[in-house]
Amino acid sequence: MDLLQAIQERHSVRVYTEQKIEDEKRQRLSALIRECNEESGLHIQIRYDDPNGFESKLAHYGSFRNVNNYIILAGKPSDSLQEKCGYYGEKIVLEAQRIGLNTCWVALSFNKVNVKKRIPNGEKMVLVIAIGYGETQGKSHKSKKLKSVMATKGEMPEWFQKGAEAALLAPTAINQQKFKMGIKNGKPVIRIAGMGPYTKIDLGIVKYHFEVASGHKVC
Ligand SMILES: Cc1cc2nc3c(=O)[nH]c(=O)nc-3n(C[C@H](O)[C@H](O)[C@H](O)COP(=O)(O)O)c2cc1C
Repeated sequence: MDLLQAIQERHSVRVYTEQKIEDEKRQRLSALIRECNEESGLHIQIRYDDPNGFESKLAHYGSFRNVNNYIILAGKPSDSLQEKCGYYGEKIVLEAQRIGLNTCWVALSFNKVNVKKRIPNGEKMVLVIAIGYGETQGKSHKSKKLKSVMATKGEMPEWFQKGAEAALLAPTAINQQKFKMGIKNGKPVIRIAGMGPYTKIDLGIVKYHFEVASGHKVC
């Protein structure tokens, strides 16, 4: 599966089977996470076979079930921390999709006390991503129309159209899609539009989708 297909087929999955992630897939994910950490300066970790991250006195957290593997996104505090977590986290999410795994970004419904134990002093935990074999493949989210997220008027080049369509397939917190896109001096620009939770993380995710599909770096 290529990255474009992964963008089309990825949907949030909150219920997982007991199937363990195979060693070969673990190695691929770990190698990618190492690469992402080197490039970004983030401290992304992956936990396998560890239900503690979603363990609760309640039967389960929100609609999550059987989350035995998860990715922790964290790093040194900085203005760009959240956006970077979005960008590199989605890179890992799409690779997971390519190798037959399912994922869900999670800002709220996990055991923060247990996860925070894994964060060294001086680092900030941003959020986690559940990962594993889903009971289902999830379903497509409702999406805004392309026109309503355009900040500039006029003809769109084909590469921009492709990028914009992929941006609308990106996961965003509560499916808010609070961003606008446009072209400035021939270059694509994406900005947060309006108020909402986790919009900076969303922005990083959306930029990654746009870049993969358009082949153009976003300013
Ligand atoms: C930053 C962020 C935080 C999220 N937090 C949660 C969460 O706490 N609980 C949850 O069930 N889903 C969470 N989601 C998943 C979104 O609800 C989901 O991505 C959105 O509804 C779009 O659906 P899709 O991912 O299937 O395309 C989060 C997504 C993002 C990007």
